[in-house]
Amino acid sequence: MKTLLHNTDIPGILEAAKIIKNGGLVAFPTETVYGLGADAKNEEAVNRIYTVKGRPADNPLILHIHDMAQFYAYADAPEYFELLARVFWPGPLTVVVPKKSTTPGWGTAGLPTIAIRMPSNDSSRLLAKHAQTAIYAPSAILSGKPSPTSAHHVLQDLDGKIEIVLDGGHCIYGLESTVLDISDKVPRILRPGFITAEMIHEQIGILPESGHPQNNKQPKSPGVKYKHYAPNAELTVVNGSPASAAAFINEHASMAGKRIGVLATDQTVEMYDLNKYSVLNAGDRLKPELIGAGLYAALRKFDDLGVEIIYAEGIIGTGIGAAVMNRMAKAAGGRVVNL
Ligand code: TXA
Ligand code: MG
Repeated sequence: MKTLLHNTDIPGILEAAKIIKNGGLVAFPTETVYGLGADAKNEEAVNRIYTVKGRPADNPLILHIHDMAQFYAYADAPEYFELLARVFWPGPLTVVVPKKSTTPGWGTAGLPTIAIRMPSNDSSRLLAKHAQTAIYAPSAILSGKPSPTSAHHVLQDLDGKIEIVLDGGHCIYGLESTVLDISDKVPRILRPGFITAEMIHEQIGILPESGHPQNNKQPKSPGVKYKHYAPNAELTVVNGSPASAAAFINEHASMAGKRIGVLATDQTVEMYDLNKYSVLNAGDRLKPELIGAGLYAALRKFDDLGVEIIYAEGIIGTGIGAAVMNRMAKAAGGRVVNL
């Protein structure tokens, strides 16, 4: 199949909307990462997302909507949901809510709940509007890889496998949306993101719990049990002060014959020998939003450079830093050194 590439002007959006209506797959930009979208009403198209990505069938998708009528066509919600929607939508917040009895089983892996978000990126909403449907969309890459924050990343994984890629440039946030489960009595953040627990607390007066309930055989968010965001190279995250992290990495990154990559920060970038390693600068440690926005692109860049071992400096894991550290630890498959 030839994959079309179009920018996000109106002809591009209309072409992509037509493809969605005809049951095809469209990669499109959102403010978080690129999504791989299909018509939520079309079972065959939604199932093809799973085939193309190699995504496990029990990992449900997020429904992307462009107005509140679409939300209520698929889901019910607690009262305080409207407070959240008013403040955070459109934007990088996904809510997990009870499904309506009329909502089909595909896309949601047969769960009684559904994950929904309204993206703030205009192209994403216009696509749903012109296709006259809500759109199921996971990140537009092969399952397990670092998520795509540019059309180039999408094409690296999916060229020839999908109908069209809409190129809207780099995603501004660069990390996936916060997933907030409000289907139970206690709200719970299943995946941290740019909308933090503190920001949600401020709006609804309840501080959501974080992470997954203990003693629960079935994880609340089925996606969490799978490998995620992983570059080809073996990644280790090193947490500590700038000086101690750089000292540790310099001491350990001397494996003979291996190509080493270092994801440094403004605070340490001059402590690494550019003749010895491929060094990328993630930016200022005190600006987690900046480090988050470039993280996946940096991991992909190391792969392009043929790096075999990556060391990444950790940052402070509070606020938005929690989302950054969550993704880094997953990409590292748990190889995290705490100094
Ligand atoms: O920012 C984002 O959310 C991006 C863009 C494209 O919108 N999408 C995204 O989708 O990250 P994906 O499929 O990579 O991640 C969806 C996450 C998974 O961890 C999945 O398990 C969880 O949402 N999820 C979906 N439906 C759920 C449900 N009913 N209950 C709990 N978790 C759910
Ligand atoms: Mg994903």
